[in-house]
Amino acid sequence: MKVLGFESSCDETGVALVETGDAGVPRLLAEALHSQAAMHADYGGVVPELASRDHIRRVLPLTREVLRMAGCSLDQIDLVAYTRGPGLAGALLVGAGTAVALAAALGRPALGVHHLEGHLLSPFLADDPPQFPFVALLVSGGHTQLMDVLGVGEYRLLGETIDDAAGEAFDKSAKLLGLGYPGGPALAQLAEAGNPKAFALPRPLLHSHDLDFSFAGLKTAVMTQARKLGPELEARGADLAASTQAAIVDVLVTKSLRALVASGRKRLVVAGGVGANRALRAALDNGTARIGARVHYPPLALCTDNGAMIALAAALRLQQGLARSSLDGAFDVRPRWSLQEIDL
Ligand code: KG4
Ligand code: ZN
Repeated sequence: MKVLGFESSCDETGVALVETGDAGVPRLLAEALHSQAAMHADYGGVVPELASRDHIRRVLPLTREVLRMAGCSLDQIDLVAYTRGPGLAGALLVGAGTAVALAAALGRPALGVHHLEGHLLSPFLADDPPQFPFVALLVSGGHTQLMDVLGVGEYRLLGETIDDAAGEAFDKSAKLLGLGYPGGPALAQLAEAGNPKAFALPRPLLHSHDLDFSFAGLKTAVMTQARKLGPELEARGADLAASTQAAIVDVLVTKSLRALVASGRKRLVVAGGVGANRALRAALDNGTARIGARVHYPPLALCTDNGAMIALAAALRLQQGLARSSLDGAFDVRPRWSLQEIDL
């Protein structure tokens, strides 16, 4: 079965073609992505109206590119998948509208997918995919959650952030360091040259007995430290970046390991943009090895938003008989949609 997937929930237009072979093992045939990061950089964050317009401009050229790379024609597509939510309403509508129109024209079903389920299942496109059950650490720009994952569609929330997401903590701290938008990767790069112990920054909720997170206080501490440094900030930027990253990584790793121990699971899956962070990966590799568990990541390019994870999630849901694909051309988007309400 060949599934064409569209992702347009925020500032990346992603299109991809995924095939599930006879053994049911999913394979990425081709993918194309356009990031709007440079366009939004001037504004210090995503401008929703600009995002929607850019998705409109990119989505069809990217689709043609994917089909060409895969050597596939439109009539070979069995299912068209799109991100139904959560995300920016106008941006979601572009992917949804394109997918449903294409599906209707081809006489094929269309299927709306939960963006976070896409992230969660993306490690199944890696060379060494995980087996169920596992604990998932979902760390994106808008979400930080620990889930107990029993199977496709069976997600139990173990803990989540009570304020900012981990990606947001990276992005807001980066902004305070003058690194622009989106700051996560830039902060991580600057941190490579710094000393993670240079500044003692708070690790909110590190010793709480639950599996929740809080990152808003960290951002305030980074701001206070940056002000205190004043003109020295430029010279000490790498140290402050490294200390900030260490604080975020410390909390994410401690809580992930605690979730593994509490649930008795031996596998951790990390998904979402922050999962690309090298310091986080190194610390999780060490930490899980210490407790006799192991960690799975999506391929690096599929950590951040992409169409492949959407096509994949649709294929896996269909295989499990969970999908509600539609043939009637009707669709909606769900800008606010929690993974706990995935079947609603
Ligand atoms: O999953 P994603 O692409 O989009 C959302 O669904 O939100 O995640 C984007 C987030 C941003 O906050 C970005 O700064 C962060 O992931 N990010 C990183 C890295 N790469 C992306 N944060 C830290 N280190 C990185 N290497
Ligand atoms: Zn995402």
